[in-house]
Formats: sequence, C-alpha cells, structure tokens
Amino acid sequence: MAKERPIGVYDSGVGGLTVVRWLQQVLPMEQIIYFGDTARVPYGGRSSDEIVEFSRQILAFFLGKGVKFVIAACNTSSALALPLLVAEAPIPMMGVIYPGAKAAVTGVKGQRIGVIGTKATVESHAYGHALRDINPDIDVGEIACPELVPLVEAGEWEGERVDSLLVGYLSPLIKERIDTLILGCTHYPFLLPSIERILGPEVRVVDPGEATAQVAASRLRELGLLAKQRQGDDSFYVSGDPLGFRNTAFGLGYDYLVQAVDISRYA
Ligand code: DGL
Repeated sequence: MAKERPIGVYDSGVGGLTVVRWLQQVLPMEQIIYFGDTARVPYGGRSSDEIVEFSRQILAFFLGKGVKFVIAACNTSSALALPLLVAEAPIPMMGVIYPGAKAAVTGVKGQRIGVIGTKATVESHAYGHALRDINPDIDVGEIACPELVPLVEAGEWEGERVDSLLVGYLSPLIKERIDTLILGCTHYPFLLPSIERILGPEVRVVDPGEATAQVAASRLRELGLLAKQRQGDDSFYVSGDPLGFRNTAFGLGYDYLVQAVDISRYA
C-alpha cells in the first residue's frame, strides 16, 4: 500500500540529519530513506542550474526506491530547486523554508527577524519572501555564512574558529537588534550551543526542522499517506565517503549503516 512506502529525505550532506531527528520523533511509524550528496557538498556556492540538476538526480534516485513523499531537508535546494521539482514530480514534495518561516512568525508580535543561510539561499531571498507573505510588516535581515557548512561537515561544531566566524556573521544582526534568528541552513543546528551563547537569551532561535516534521505529518495525513506501522529501519545513502558520514551521525548520537551511491547515473 502507498502509505506503507518510505519517505525520501535529502540534503547536500549531514545537515538533513537535523531534520531527520525531528521526523523520527514526530513520525515514528515512517520509514526514512536519507540521501546526503556529500561528494558535491556544499551546494551554497553553486549556481541555481547545478542545484536544480543535483536535486533532480536525487528525486530520480528516490523514485527508484519507491518513496511516497520527498522532503528537501536542505534550504538551498528548497529555495532554488523545489518550486520546479514540485511541478515535475509524480509524488508530493515539500521543503523546509515555509515551515521555518511560519514557525518564526506564529504567535509573536512586532518582529525583527534575522536569517542565516548559504549564499544561494540568502541571494534567493526565499525566507524574506516567505516571511513577508505571512506578515508584510516584518523586518528581515538575511546573512550568508559560507564558511560554516565545511566546518560542520568536518565535525568541527564548537571552539574558537566556530565562535569567531559566528561573531562575524551574527554581529550585523545583533546590531539590528533582532529578536528572532532563523537557522536557514540545516547544517547550523549542529552549532546551536555556540549560536545561542553569542546571541544571548533575548533572541529566540528557530530551527525549521521541528516545524518541517509537523508540516510533513499534516501533509501526509491530508494525503492519506500516513504509515500505520513501520516497515523497516531507516536507511542512509551518500554520494561521497560513507564512513565520514557515519562518524558525523555518530556525533549526533546515531549509529547508522551508510551506503554509497553513484548519484551521477540518475537523471
Ligand atoms: N544544508 C543545506 C542547507 O540547508 C546546504 C548547505 C550547503 O551544501 O551549502 O542549505
């Protein structure tokens, strides 16, 4: 039955695991197939054509696995590729940006919102548009943080280098007196303790992963695709080195078997 098929979740690398951990809590019956494009990470400095091409290949890989629903657990792909892919895909898809924007705005008044993300996400202004669609009066400042993803992929989640980069990236937003910060890249929740320490308790930090899992649950319910019972363990695929990914996942508290895929043969 369609509802018992797995869901596909993807990112350029390990970042999507910060969405997977919410999905596992909110949707424990769903079997997840994860793909991390670790041979081609980071996506954030790439052209929109490349991001669309890579995302299409990942969709083709998931279709070959018989998934019922796909989540782009990658802001960069959500911003640049998802609008096209949603129109082409034979199965429903969703991304992280709208759920993240909605979570940042809901139930809070008079906001000054900061967004940090990759260069491609920030230049697309996907968050600015989504936030102002919900509330045109919101002040939004978007800052690209190109040096963070390579550090997270390398397992460097804290320390002097992380702090000094974060202080540089966050200072303009602190000067703007933001009250909310959206982590507009799924790699950034790995840096949450440092981000929160630098911003102080006044600033609310929003990880779109949690809202994404809630929206995914509603979408699956509406579509009649919620799994009643788990069909098997989650599985993890990468285009690069499976061991590196496995070690990073281990740092998050997960012990996954990770398999390599030649993603370039999918189109
Ligand atoms: N984790 C991704 C995102 O949410 C992509 C980071 C990258 O590959 O540059 O944007």
